[in-house]
Amino acid sequence: MTSDLFDSVPDTRPVREDMAEGAVLLHGHAKPVEGELIVALREIVAQAPFRRMHTPGGHQMSVAMTNCGQLGWITDRSGYRYDGNDPETGQPWPAMPAAFLQLAIEAAATAGFKDFMPDACLINRYEPGARMSLHQDRDEQDFGAPIVSVSLGLPAIFLFGGLERSEKPRRFRLEHGDVVVWGGPSRLVFHGVAPLVDGEHSLLGRQRINFTFRRAR
Ligand code: SIN
Ligand code: FE2
Repeated sequence: MTSDLFDSVPDTRPVREDMAEGAVLLHGHAKPVEGELIVALREIVAQAPFRRMHTPGGHQMSVAMTNCGQLGWITDRSGYRYDGNDPETGQPWPAMPAAFLQLAIEAAATAGFKDFMPDACLINRYEPGARMSLHQDRDEQDFGAPIVSVSLGLPAIFLFGGLERSEKPRRFRLEHGDVVVWGGPSRLVFHGVAPLVDGEHSLLGRQRINFTFRRAR
């Protein structure tokens, strides 16, 4: 006979971890809907494939990206911005699946941000070695809305700093199903992701997927 009690390591982490004022880590929060998220992700990627974009400085990012929702975040030689169309296909980004929207709204509310209504979802794919350097999310029109970030697949170290780039970031391990919400006094915190360590995830293989929900306009 098999039982979850015996074939998995018990998760002893607290459900809710306060990271800073306005920033919380909700451990395992997306796990109950992992299957729906992964099915919907496959449909999005079939229409708007992952691609490694270029920064305005001409560097190719190690993280591959796509988007869903009314607006998608893009970067190229002319800068960072949101656009309603996928530049690769000229078509609108795939609609935000109901399961994505519900999770984002509900996680924001759990973190204390009522009435969050995202219009953009950036989807990041990290393969082993991929990383994201410290940055602020500041291409949105209004910083009143929080950022909701959902992690799936391989674990990663999330770097969470302060309002100045010089502040040494703290390190938080993000595992499959973890959700981070930051807003209010933490909305413009510098954050990033350390190089992904190789591994094999039972549902997603050798990768980490991150959904970042924002209110862009
Ligand atoms: C991001 O800042 O867009 C990505 C964060 C993450 O991958 O956890
Ligand atoms: Fe970010």
